[in-house]
Amino acid sequence: MISPVIVVHPLAQIHLTELRRQHTSCGQFRWHLQRLAEILFTEATRSLATAPVRVQTPLVETAGSAFARSVVLVPILRAGLGLQEAILPLVPEATVAHVGIARDEATALPMPYYAKLPAVLKEADVFLLDPMLATGGSACSAVTQLKEAGATRITLICVVSCPQGLQALAAQHPDVTVVTAAVDPGLNERSYIVPGLGDAGDRCFGT
Ligand code: PRP
Ligand code: URA
Repeated sequence: MISPVIVVHPLAQIHLTELRRQHTSCGQFRWHLQRLAEILFTEATRSLATAPVRVQTPLVETAGSAFARSVVLVPILRAGLGLQEAILPLVPEATVAHVGIARDEATALPMPYYAKLPAVLKEADVFLLDPMLATGGSACSAVTQLKEAGATRITLICVVSCPQGLQALAAQHPDVTVVTAAVDPGLNERSYIVPGLGDAGDRCFGT
């Protein structure tokens, strides 16, 4: 199983608790998801490569940092959009690629339906965004598509994960870094994470 980076910051756990709460409204759900996304992305970029630059302050010239590589955000449609909305303002020059994958409700198998990937993937730090890592089928499918398009440095940011999803990723894509706020105990008979937070896309978009 991949050893994920589990973000245990108190604010992360407070936002996660409100996301889990059954009666959190759609607006509140989006707000907490965005705040948690900021925290997860900050942790996910802790080791981001930077390039030295010189900067002129009003007083003197001094050393500074710039992005060493392009940053590409890849929300898995739909629920990943809820994370992207908060993360893009932190890296406003990032490229945004989209991967559309819907889980078949009967089989829980991923059904890819859309992909728009940029040419810069090979040289980029790629952040795959999806609130839920359940069976891992969707994440594995997205990573496969990203690697086929040239990506080599991929970090998955997810709010809630579980052992099954982490094991699936470890088996197919052991090089992917996973940053998450929680590793829940497992899945129910419908392949929903338990305790989880329910259907992230439905709760985020009110459907
Ligand atoms: C959810 C979630 C992940 C996937 C996780 O998306 O956002 O993409 O399920 O499950 P898995 O690890 O078993 O593949 P869903 O397919 O429900 O689509 P949505 O984002 O449009 O709600
Ligand atoms: N997709 C979700 O949105 N939630 C789960 O628990 C599993 C898959």
